[in-house]
Amino acid sequence: METSENIALVVGATGISGSNLASKLLEKGWKVFGLSRNPKNDIKGLQPIAADLLNIESLTTALCNVSPTHVFFTTWMRNDTEDENIRVNSALVRNLLDVLSVKKSVKHVALVTGLKHYLGPFDAYATTGTLPETPLREEQPRLNIQNFYYSQEDEVFIAAARDGFSWSIHRPHTLIGKTIGNAMNMGTTLAVYASICKQANIPFIWPGSEAQWNGLSDVTDAKVLADQIIWAATNPEAHNEAFNIANGDVFRWKWLWPKIAEWFEIEFEGYNGSIQLESVLNDKHSVWSNIAKEHQLVEENLKVLASAWHTDLDLGRPLEVMTDMSKSRKLGFSVYKDTKDSFFELFAQLRNDKIIP
Ligand SMILES: NC(=O)c1ccc[n+]([C@@H]2O[C@H](COP(=O)([O-])OP(=O)(O)OC[C@H]3O[C@@H](n4cnc5c(N)ncnc54)[C@H](OP(=O)(O)O)[C@@H]3O)[C@@H](O)[C@H]2O)c1
Repeated sequence: METSENIALVVGATGISGSNLASKLLEKGWKVFGLSRNPKNDIKGLQPIAADLLNIESLTTALCNVSPTHVFFTTWMRNDTEDENIRVNSALVRNLLDVLSVKKSVKHVALVTGLKHYLGPFDAYATTGTLPETPLREEQPRLNIQNFYYSQEDEVFIAAARDGFSWSIHRPHTLIGKTIGNAMNMGTTLAVYASICKQANIPFIWPGSEAQWNGLSDVTDAKVLADQIIWAATNPEAHNEAFNIANGDVFRWKWLWPKIAEWFEIEFEGYNGSIQLESVLNDKHSVWSNIAKEHQLVEENLKVLASAWHTDLDLGRPLEVMTDMSKSRKLGFSVYKDTKDSFFELFAQLRNDKIIP
């Protein structure tokens, strides 16, 4: 496929999935538009589009001169209940695909969801402990419980049947990669936590469950996710399929935690049954702002960098969670990343970009 003919619309281009995907597409020679409500100018070559997906008028106007061949949907909005998540997040997908439908330019739509497809939504998996069989496999049926991912998938399926485009669904585990100010970013959250522990001389304590500390895990480097999305969009044998996506190795947090501590040159404590990162960081706002001033860092607001609520939910799960990668491997997707490298490359980049000391 000639990439010069491809026009990508990355929806959510400032997010952790979208920004890493936009950079990869540009490297590969695609023409790339990046949509969000507040676009940034930090990716060279990306053509920003400011629009709110919940406002059809704003969307129609913003896209009037854009006819994408490929749509990469990497957007979600967090709401208080799953009912609201379903109403809002299905509208995001539906509104965009409705506005694009009249252009008849779209050949493929990729949608990024995640492992909550198998684990259930936030308010179910951590508290009621829905325990699906691991490793998670694409063929496992939908859970008998409402989930905004299912509603977003259904919007894609309905529009694909109407407009005749192919689709792919991508289900990453916890994403590790750089972006600032997004909703869920475990790598940056842990980097900020470790930096605070180092500067304030407090212990770097594991904030999660016993099952997560001892059990097997995997994560998804945002660049590996980007590779899979591009691979699926450009290989017909991967069309109209849903794929898990993780780095390709497995690890135990009790193995990785000491290595993260070593990278930051701090002491660590393992699982101790009690701490929530959100409460540890709650009273560290002025500590962080002082660290940021002292080291001339770019962001003094701890809230912008750290998403402790999400790290607590992920690491607090009552089961070990890892994914089976056979489906895309069998079809030829072979990208692999060492998870230690995902974390250490992110930490080095955050240090280099003056986000952590
Ligand atoms: N982050 C993770 O660790 C993780 C792990 C597994 C699965 N997932 C899933 O991956 C998918 C993508 O999430 P992500 O974490 O990559 O997203 P993200 O980093 O939170 O980014 C969301 C993007 O969407 C844009 N956006 C939000 N509301 C919008 C609206 N109304 N109109 C236009 N743009 C809007 C945001 O920019 P503006 O705010 O400027 O609009 C941003 O560019 C989600 O389904 C998520 O659940 C994420």
